[in-house]
Amino acid sequence: MDPSPGFKRVMSLVAALALFTTFAIPLPAHASPAEAQALLKWKSSLGNHSNSSLSSWTPSPHNATGSNSTMSPCAWYDISCNLVGNVIGINLTSTRVEGTLDEFPFSSLFHLMDMDLSINSLSGYIPPQIGLLSNLTYLDLSINQFLGKIPSEISHLMKLTILYLVSNELNGSIPQEIGYKLATLYVYNNSLSSCIPPEMGNMTNLEVLHMDTNLLTGPIPSTLGNLTKLTELHLFANELSGSIPLELGNLCAMLDLALSENQLTSTIPFSLGNLTNLGSLFLCRNHLSGSIPKSLGDLVNLVVLEMDTNQLNGSLPKNLCRGGLLQNLIVSHNNLTGSILRSLRNCTSLVRVCLQENQLTGNISKTFGVYPNLDFIDMSFNKFFGEISTNWGSWTCLTNLRID
Ligand SMILES: *[C@@H]1O[C@H](CO)[C@@H](O)[C@H](O)[C@H]1NC(C)=O
Ligand SMILES: *[C@@H]1O[C@H](CO)[C@@H](O)[C@H](O)[C@H]1NC(C)=O
Ligand SMILES: *[C@@H]1O[C@H](CO)[C@@H](O)[C@H](O)[C@H]1NC(C)=O
Ligand SMILES: *[C@@H]1O[C@H](CO)[C@@H](O)[C@H](O)[C@H]1NC(C)=O
Ligand SMILES: *[C@@H]1O[C@H](CO)[C@@H](O)[C@H](O)[C@H]1NC(C)=O
Ligand SMILES: *[C@@H]1O[C@H](CO)[C@@H](O)[C@H](O)[C@H]1NC(C)=O
Ligand SMILES: *[C@@H]1O[C@H](CO)[C@@H](O)[C@H](O)[C@H]1NC(C)=O
Ligand SMILES: *[C@@H]1O[C@H](CO)[C@@H](O)[C@H](O)[C@H]1NC(C)=O
Ligand SMILES: *[C@@H]1O[C@H](CO)[C@@H](O)[C@H](O)[C@H]1NC(C)=O
Ligand SMILES: *[C@@H]1O[C@H](CO)[C@@H](O)[C@H](O)[C@H]1NC(C)=O
Ligand SMILES: *[C@@H]1O[C@H](CO)[C@@H](O)[C@H](O)[C@H]1NC(C)=O
Ligand SMILES: *[C@@H]1O[C@H](CO)[C@@H](O)[C@H](O)[C@H]1NC(C)=O
Repeated sequence: MDPSPGFKRVMSLVAALALFTTFAIPLPAHASPAEAQALLKWKSSLGNHSNSSLSSWTPSPHNATGSNSTMSPCAWYDISCNLVGNVIGINLTSTRVEGTLDEFPFSSLFHLMDMDLSINSLSGYIPPQIGLLSNLTYLDLSINQFLGKIPSEISHLMKLTILYLVSNELNGSIPQEIGYKLATLYVYNNSLSSCIPPEMGNMTNLEVLHMDTNLLTGPIPSTLGNLTKLTELHLFANELSGSIPLELGNLCAMLDLALSENQLTSTIPFSLGNLTNLGSLFLCRNHLSGSIPKSLGDLVNLVVLEMDTNQLNGSLPKNLCRGGLLQNLIVSHNNLTGSILRSLRNCTSLVRVCLQENQLTGNISKTFGVYPNLDFIDMSFNKFFGEISTNWGSWTCLTNLRID
C-alpha cells in the first residue's frame, strides 16, 4: 500500500529537519542531555531541595517518553538555553539551595553566560574550576556562606563583566588579576585582607568598585587613578592607611567616593576638586589633618559631604554650596575654625547639618539664612554667639535643633 500524501509530507519534513540538524548545528548531538545529567549530578549532592525550585530538575522531560537521549534541562525552572538547546543561564537566586559547588559541572557547561546563585545557603570553597566557564559574562554568588580565597582562576574568565561576591566569608587577598574586562566588581562584606593590588589599576573597564567592609590594609594604590571610567569607589570600613592618592583627582567620571572608616592620614588632596561630577564624598572617621582644600568649592554637583571625626582644621571652603545642591554637610568632631557665613548663608538646599565639636565662630543671627528643607542641625560645642534670628522661623522642616 502506498503511503498517504500526508505521510510523505511528514517524512520529507523529518528529512529536511535531519539535514538542517546535521549541517546547521555543529554541536554534539547529545549536548543537552549531557548538560542535564551533569546538573542532576550536582543536584543530588545538594541538601534538602524538596521545597526549592530544584524540584523541577528531573530526568524526564515534561511530555516525552523519558529516555535519556531526549532529556533536556531547557524546560526546568531557573535554566535558560540557546536556540539549539545548550544551557546559557542558571538563575537560582533565593531558591533555598543548600550545599556546595564541589560537584558543580564546570567542565560540562561550555556555553554558560549568566550564573546567579545568590541568596541561598551555599558553602565551602569557590572551586578553581570556575575558571573553565569561559563564556561566563555574569557571576553572582552573593549572600551565601562561601569561605576561603577568591580563586585566581577567576581571571581566566575573559568575558566576565559583572562579578558579585557580596556577603560571604571570603578571606585572603584580592587576586592581582581578578579580571581585566570587569565593569562591575562587588566584594563587600567579606573578610578579605592584605593590600589592594596595584595591578587593579589595569582594570580600565571598571565602572563600579565596591570593596568596603573587609579587612584590607596598606595604602590606596595610586594606580587606581587610571580607572577613568570609575563612577563609584567604595573602600570604607577597612584598615587602609597612608594618604589619599592625589591621582584619584583623575577619576573624572566619579559620582560617589567613599573612603570613610579607615586609618587614612595626611591632608585631603587638592586634586579632588577636579571631580566635578562628584555627588557624594565620604571621608569620615579617619586621621585626616590639615585644612579642607578650597578646590572642594568647585564640586558643583555635590549633594553629600561627610568628613566628621578627623583632625581637620582651618575654615570651610567658601563656595561649598556653589552648585546649590548640597543637602548633607557633616563636619563634626574636627578642629575647624572661622566663620561659616560665606559657606552656608545662601545654601537653601541643606537638609542635615552637623557642625558640633569644632571651633567655629560667628554671630548666629547673621550666619544662618533661610533653609526651607532643613531637618536637622547640630551646632553644639563651638564658639558661636549672638541671638536666634527670626529667619529661623522659616526653617519649616526642622525636627531637630541642637545648640548646647
Ligand atoms: C525537606 O524539607 C521538606 C519541607 O521543606 C520536609 O517536608 C522534609 O521532611 C525535608 N526532608 C529532609 C530529609 O529533611
Ligand atoms: C516551603 O514553601 C512553602 C511555600 O513557599 C512555605 O510556606 C514553607 O514555609 C516552606 N517550607 C520550608 C521548610 O521552607
Ligand atoms: C505537555 O503536557 C501538558 C499537560 O499534560 C499539555 O497541556 C501540553 O499541551 C503538552 N505540551 C506539548 C508540547 O505536548
Ligand atoms: C538515564 O541516565 C541515568 C543516569 O545517568 C541512568 O541511571 C539511567 O539508566 C538512564 N536511563 C536510560 C533509559 O538510559
Ligand atoms: C534571576 O531571577 C530574579 C528573579 O527571579 C531576577 O530578579 C534576577 O535579575 C535574575 N538574575 C539574572 C542574572 O538574570
Ligand atoms: C562559548 O559559546 C559559544 C556559543 O554557545 C560556543 O560556540 C563556544 O564553543 C563557547 N566557548 C567555549 C570556549 O566553550
Ligand atoms: C581563610 O579561611 C579558611 C577557612 O575558614 C582558613 O582555613 C584559612 O586559614 C583562612 N585564611 C586566612 C588568610 O585567613
Ligand atoms: C598591571 O599593573 C602593574 C602595576 O601597576 C604593571 O606593572 C603591569 O605591567 C600591568 N600589567 C598589565 C598586563 O598591564
Ligand atoms: C597608572 O598609574 C600609575 C601611577 O599613577 C602610572 O605611573 C602609570 O603610568 C599609569 N598607567 C597607565 C597605563 O596609564
Ligand atoms: C585638574 O585637571 C586639570 C586638567 O584636567 C589639570 O591641569 C589640573 O592640574 C588638575 N588639578 C588638580 C588640582 O589636580
Ligand atoms: C585645635 O587647634 C588648636 C589651635 O588652633 C590647637 O591648639 C589644638 O591642639 C587643636 N586640637 C586638636 C584636637 O587638634
Ligand atoms: C547670597 O546671595 C545674594 C543674592 O544672590 C548675594 O548678593 C550674596 O552675596 C550671597 N551671599 C553669600 C555669602 O554668598
